[in-house]
Amino acid sequence: MSNSLITVAYIAASALFILSLGGLSKQETARRGNFLGILGMLIAFGATVASAQVTGYGVLVSTLLPGLAIGALLAARVAMTSMPQLVGILNSFGGLASVLVGFGSFLQAEAALTGVEATIHDIEIYVGVFIGTVTFTGSVVACGKLQGIVSSKPIALPGRHFVNLGMLVAIAVLLFPYMQGGETALTYLGISCAIAAVLGVNLVIAIGGADMPVVISMLNSYSGWAAAAAGFMLSNDLLIVTGALVGSSGAILSYFMCKAMNRSFINVMAGGFGEGASGPAAEITGTATPTNIEETVELLDNAQNVIIVPGYGMAVAQAQHPVSDITKILRKRGKQVRFGIHPVAGRLPGHMNVLLAEANVPYDIVLEMDEINDDFPETDVVLVIGANDTVNSSALDDPNSAIAGMPVMEVWKSDSVIVLKRSLSSGYAGVDNPLFYKDNTMMLFGDAKQNTTAILAKLSESATPSKVLTTA
Ligand code: TAP
Repeated sequence: MSNSLITVAYIAASALFILSLGGLSKQETARRGNFLGILGMLIAFGATVASAQVTGYGVLVSTLLPGLAIGALLAARVAMTSMPQLVGILNSFGGLASVLVGFGSFLQAEAALTGVEATIHDIEIYVGVFIGTVTFTGSVVACGKLQGIVSSKPIALPGRHFVNLGMLVAIAVLLFPYMQGGETALTYLGISCAIAAVLGVNLVIAIGGADMPVVISMLNSYSGWAAAAAGFMLSNDLLIVTGALVGSSGAILSYFMCKAMNRSFINVMAGGFGEGASGPAAEITGTATPTNIEETVELLDNAQNVIIVPGYGMAVAQAQHPVSDITKILRKRGKQVRFGIHPVAGRLPGHMNVLLAEANVPYDIVLEMDEINDDFPETDVVLVIGANDTVNSSALDDPNSAIAGMPVMEVWKSDSVIVLKRSLSSGYAGVDNPLFYKDNTMMLFGDAKQNTTAILAKLSESATPSKVLTTA
């Protein structure tokens, strides 16, 4: 394929990636956004394979086929609840690819480059290997935390900010002997890579459970910059553009996450935040009030305004379908039913929105936390389905709580709250929840799918349920 045709294909692919990102910003257009992204990637891949840069077709096919098979199998088999770990590990592959491209470019130095061009190329390799390594080890630790292999609690080494700074300075200093070239340059590149590997671990391991969403989107952004660095090393314009798109959109998402979590962007960059408690968290006293299906249905029947707040437990239980059917019945009976979604509910940005869309819940009744949080005082009943950290009142009431300052869904301001979960145990951040012990909170213990299915069955039993139930 001629160079000009490849350039045209690359421009078309870049435009499709930008349109894809635009489409992914809204639920209604997300499917189209995904399709445009796939189309862009196919064009990009086809044009690259057809370019003069690619000659080893045997190697390409022998790596492509197993890669395709493994990728398709993983995507088909992964449970929705394990999706964040998959995203984490895929981020790490992006980082690792950049490291390998860096070492490959170093070992196969381009003889055509001399003077300033050669210097710039060497710096590109050094920077690419650095970003790629931090992304790789940081993402592996994040994946371990999400999978529960590494503790989700922050593991903060004493004086780690100084240690991290020291490592950054060492990597910067090593650039000079590396740039001298010669036989030892590879050794310096290797040492800098090893230090960056420890830095990646140190940055992520210090971050606590509730703050993980920001870390995941930051690592996603890093993997984009690592790809852009690989693009510079390979002189591939499309890889530079695509990497920059991923890097900047990941950075924007991180910024929004930080805002939603009331965290500082700089603290995230430095690794380890959510600190600042001056004493132990307040002790939670009181007794939780259990409830049952009949009482829950009666409350729903007598309510006019209902808000459903889903969380990670709804994803685990796969309760979205009965929840959607309950919503349909209540709406048919003239009640206002809306969903309130916390920005970090579940384990992925938009996790709850995806589940609710899958269960055909209309988009216009699914509202963001900021849009619905002021409405709880005028709400009769709130159903909390498998949410915990995102409805934890200690975030607002206890300055020593590990999640202090994080905005939460203020469900306790409504008349009655029914929490569907299996026990009184804490959520992902490991922080006890005073909501469960409040006077207007009732606990409907058990698996969320079983309980919502039972609520649905009871609600469907009678055509004029409010009369039947209140006179019973
Ligand atoms: P969580 O705080 O994770 O709590 C989920 C609750 O669901 C658990 O307390 C659990 O209680 C309950 N549960 C589990 N399986 C259940 C089942 N089968 N039936 C009923 N309940 C079940 O949930 P959340 O409020 O959505 O908060 C999300 C947390 O994850 C936040 O801390 C957030 O920072 C973190 N996080 C989020 C993301 C993103 S991007 N969203 C990424 C990483 C981490 P029982 O065991 O008592 O049932």
